[in-house]
Amino acid sequence: VMKFIDEVELSYKTILLRVDFNVSLNPNHSISNDERIRQSIPTIEYLLKHRNKLILVAHLGEPEKRNPADSLTRVAKRLHEYLPHHKVTLVNDFIADPHQLEQQKEGEVILLENIRFYPGEQKNDPEFAKQLASLAEVYVNDAFGVSHRKSASVIGVPALLPSYGGLLLKKEVDMIDRVMKHPKKPLVAIIGGKKISTKIKFITKLTTVADCLLLGGGLANTFL
Ligand code: 3PG
Repeated sequence: VMKFIDEVELSYKTILLRVDFNVSLNPNHSISNDERIRQSIPTIEYLLKHRNKLILVAHLGEPEKRNPADSLTRVAKRLHEYLPHHKVTLVNDFIADPHQLEQQKEGEVILLENIRFYPGEQKNDPEFAKQLASLAEVYVNDAFGVSHRKSASVIGVPALLPSYGGLLLKKEVDMIDRVMKHPKKPLVAIIGGKKISTKIKFITKLTTVADCLLLGGGLANTFL
């Protein structure tokens, strides 16, 4: 059974925190919706309050290789707006340049550059997972939307470090659990998103409890 960070004693540790900062972008690559960044703030603040050092891991899009359009520069800037009392440092390449991590100060939040810039991430390459895991003592997953991916930052690292769920993950799991086990009737489920492939099983399951299912976003096209 997975434990969440508010159920264990977790302080003075260096923590690798997997977040889902795969935000929607405008055609000019500015952020059009930063809800995902905002939702992760309670977990970040909670861990900082307990004097932990945070190294955030996130992806953006599906880049084939390192390129400026998929950089997390804007994400780091927006994150700093929500954490104005903390320095937020974007580390361009934690493998080529480990110094920034070695010099991390208390209260400073480090965000690693788009983890999909590394080919080992999506292949769940064991060497790459080891390199990532070596940065921290503890792993926390707060990225519900990424948890079905068999990548190094999702399943490789937690096999190597003590691992816990974050507050947002807890909230999302609790919410789905409540709806599936004790649905309040009549129940209307609303599903959006791009890809139907990873949601079809859940949609099928939802039809067993929901009275009505509303589909929007890109995946509605598949049905149309
Ligand atoms: C999402 O946006 O659905 C998650 O961040 C996962 O992204 P992915 O489908 O590119 O793995």
